[in-house]
Formats: sequence, C-alpha cells, structure tokens
Amino acid sequence: MKTVLVTGGTRGLGLAISKRLVNNGYRVIVMGRKCSAECENWIAATENADFELYDLADTAGIHGFSQHITKKYGRLYGLVNNAALGLDGVLATMHESDISRVIRVNVEAPILLTKYLLRPMLINRKGRVINISSIIGSTGFKGLAVYGATKAAMNGFTKSLSREVGKAGITVNSVAPGYMSTDMTEGLQGEKLESIKRRSPLGQLAHVDDVASMVSYLMSDEAKMITGAVMTVDAGSTA
Ligand SMILES: NC(=O)c1ccc[n+]([C@@H]2O[C@H](COP(=O)([O-])OP(=O)(O)OC[C@H]3O[C@@H](n4cnc5c(N)ncnc54)[C@H](OP(=O)(O)O)[C@@H]3O)[C@@H](O)[C@H]2O)c1
Repeated sequence: MKTVLVTGGTRGLGLAISKRLVNNGYRVIVMGRKCSAECENWIAATENADFELYDLADTAGIHGFSQHITKKYGRLYGLVNNAALGLDGVLATMHESDISRVIRVNVEAPILLTKYLLRPMLINRKGRVINISSIIGSTGFKGLAVYGATKAAMNGFTKSLSREVGKAGITVNSVAPGYMSTDMTEGLQGEKLESIKRRSPLGQLAHVDDVASMVSYLMSDEAKMITGAVMTVDAGSTA
C-alpha cells in the first residue's frame, strides 16, 4: 500500500484530499497543528489514516519530524504540501512578523519537508510531490501580495525540482485552485463572492472535492507523464 503525507490535512481542502486518497487505496498520514472534530471522527473510523501533530512554523524541527515519519511509516510514496496561511492585509501596514510567518509556513517549511521526505523517494526511485498553489500566484488579488508571492514561489519550486528528480521516477506538480469555500476564505462574502461566481465561465466555484480529484489523479499511475505542471482547478475563472 502506498503511503502519502498530507500537510494541513485536518480540515478544508487537506481533509478532502486525505479522504479521497484513502478511498482510492492509499494509506494517509494527516499532519497539522490540531485534528478538527471532523478529522478526529474520520480517523477513528478509518483504518488507513493516522494523525501526526506538527506545526510547520517550527522549521528547525522539520528534519527530525521527517525522520520520525520515515521510521514510523516507512518510505513515503507521496507528499502533498497543502498547509498554508492565508493571511490578508495591505502590504504597507502589514507587520514584518506576519510577512515572515506567511513566507515561513507557505514556502520555507514545504521546501524543507520536501527536501527530507524526497530522500527516501530517491532511494525507491519513485514518488509524487504535489504542491497546492493558488490562481492568486499568477493573477494577483488586492490584499494578498505576500500570500500571492508564496504561491508563485511554490510554482517556481515545482518546475525546477521536477527537472532535478524526474530521472529518478519522481513527478512534481502544482495544483492551483480558484476560490473554494473553506475556513481560509470565510471573510470573502457578499458582492465580492457573487462577482467571482458570475465571472467564472461555469457560473459557479470549484469545490474542495474538485481539487481533491486533481490531486488524486496526479498521485495515480495514470499521471506518470505529467511533471513540472501547474494544474488549474477554478471553474474557468482565469480563462
Ligand atoms: N480556500 C481557497 O479558496 C483556496 C484557494 C486557492 C488555494 N488554496 C490553498 O489550498 C490549501 C488549503 O487551504 P484551505 O482553504 O483548506 O485552508 P484552511 O481551511 O485555512 O486550512 C489550512 C490547513 O493548513 C494547516 N496549517 C496552517 N498552518 C499550519 C502550520 N503552521 N502547521 C501545520 N499545518 C498548518 C491547517 O491545519 P491546523 O489548523 O490543524 O494546523 C489546515 O489544515 C492552502 O495551500 C491554500 O493556500 C485555498
């Protein structure tokens, strides 16, 4: 059975991805700072899902955490870098500490985690790294300059890393969702939300399950010839 680690698998998109991967026959390690009630109930009722507590803001501990994961679960087949902070705010008034925190959790932490969990994949000569980006990384959005920078960074990371590890049978891809209704976006309501819906060719928004389908596809053998790609799932918003 192939084992996959999903960061931020405790709620929102990460939980939808974790559930989909278990349903498709993977063993899933759900990582986050706190297992939500939904996450706890699901893990209790599911044979092939485990929760591992970790705060990605602690970048100094990522090496040790990765060793713990490999020791406990064996060499991973897949890593989904999903956890991120969606802190918004006008750049001119944003605290330096908040800017650092977003960059640390959204970029530095997934790069370090990938570095250490990639080593066992290189030994196995197979594996999948899937980075959850955002359409904001290429379109931009007022109040999301730092967040947008982190998502563009992950797309750049995906492309160069795919060239580095492709010959070892490892694919690296980004998935760029459009707006989805989760805790991260609860502040975006009313006319702004309606206008995003109206402007999308499909007249609606992608759901977390639509994005989970893309992740599951990229994880599968069917996607073996896809690497270095940014796959958009946004109901056509960026068409
Ligand atoms: N929602 C959208 O419209 C949208 C659009 C495009 C892209 N995305 C991307 O999709 C991904 C998931 O977003 P979401 O909407 O599901 O967000 P969410 O509901 O806010 O969930 C964020 C997840 O990240 C985890 N997380 C946050 N900080 C962490 C930390 N320091 N250490 C470990 N885990 C941490 C959280 O787990 P804990 O609380 O348990 O730590 C949670 O599971 C993100 O990469 C986001 O940028 C979202």
